[in-house]
Amino acid sequence: MMNILITGGAGFIGSHVVRRFVNTYPSYNIYNLDALTYAGNLENLKDIEKAANYKFLKGDIVDEASVCEIFKEYRFDGVIHLAAESHVDRSIKDPLAFVKTNIIGTVNLLNAAKEFWKDDKDGKKFYHVSTDEVYGSLGQTGLFTETTPYDPNSPYSASKASSDHFVRAYGETYNLPYVISNCSNNYGPNHFPEKLIPLFINNIIEGKSLPVYGDGKYTRDWLFVEDHAAAIDLVFHKGKNHETYNIGGFNEWQNIELVQLLCQIMDGKLGKPAGSSEKLIEYVKDRPGHDLRYAIDANKINKELGWYPSVTFEQGLERTVDWFLQNKEWLSRVTSGAYQEYYNKMYS
Ligand code: NAD
Ligand code: DAU
Repeated sequence: MMNILITGGAGFIGSHVVRRFVNTYPSYNIYNLDALTYAGNLENLKDIEKAANYKFLKGDIVDEASVCEIFKEYRFDGVIHLAAESHVDRSIKDPLAFVKTNIIGTVNLLNAAKEFWKDDKDGKKFYHVSTDEVYGSLGQTGLFTETTPYDPNSPYSASKASSDHFVRAYGETYNLPYVISNCSNNYGPNHFPEKLIPLFINNIIEGKSLPVYGDGKYTRDWLFVEDHAAAIDLVFHKGKNHETYNIGGFNEWQNIELVQLLCQIMDGKLGKPAGSSEKLIEYVKDRPGHDLRYAIDANKINKELGWYPSVTFEQGLERTVDWFLQNKEWLSRVTSGAYQEYYNKMYS
């Protein structure tokens, strides 16, 4: 048996990773450590919550003592660290929350792993799940590779860059076995409706405006979340010690073109006349420090580990829209209460 700690497993990507590991590896004990912030939702894991090889641990990675306690009790062989504050717009309003969870929380986990693995590092691995935003912004051409210099522009990406540096530093200084991956924008089921795609799906359902920042010509590289979970599985098992892997969708879209495609799909699914949802588009004030373009060169993970996205964007977007339309109760539960306050603060 292997004891694997997955942090942030009640969130969007984390829940897909937990499900994949629980179902694929019955011989692993999967421990999901999550503070259940606004972004964490155990409903995301209803289907596997009773699995014999799964246990949920409610806890905050910023709390050093409880991180140590958990390591002491469960003697993890591996850590897959996803817990984070993850939304750029929130980081602009409250950078300190990002410093606490993304930097201090990561260092607490590193310290615990360093301490508990100090006498026997054999078979141990600390996997830090990070973002392509650490590389900053691209112009119209070029791709982020694993050797692109770090150049973060938002408090979120600065905090993730800092946590990446700490992971690397623990590898160099204490010989901690680690691997890092930096991934592009994910989308799919269970995505919290503060991010572009789920926010706009929810707004179309509710007949609310679609707030496109600036001129809408910003570009992102989109990846279906289950393909990211598959990549994480590969990197965890086959990734080389002390290496970084970029993960991306080979799938660049300007925001406005993506929104138009989403509007067409939503019109079709909702049985509305063509062009109805597009009428909701409203250009609004830009995000400060808005990165123009992200695009990943994912050739290393493709060549070394044989990973490639399995889902086209059209397929993934349709599956995502179907999931949201079939899970309107999930959507209405996560958008009640505190979400309304958030929405008014951000978009009024
Ligand atoms: P998310 O916001 O949906 O989920 C984050 C989870 O972490 C939530 O369950 C939350 O409760 C938990 N959490 C937050 N603070 C915590 C704390 N102090 N202690 C314990 N748990 C805490 O995030 P996501 O979009 O699923 O992203 C997961 C990871 O992947 C993050 O590290 C993020 O930087 C990275 N990432 C995300 C994307 C993306 O497109 N969403 C792309 C690349 C990398
Ligand atoms: O690149 C990976 C990153 O992708 C992850 O590390 C982050 O956790 C994740 O949130 C995401 O960051 P982005 O800032 O790119 O995602 P977001 O969905 O917030 O925005 C996508 C694009 O859409 C971006 O150019 C901003 C724009 N946008 C976003 C919102 C929420 C709008 O035009 N209007 C909006 O209301």
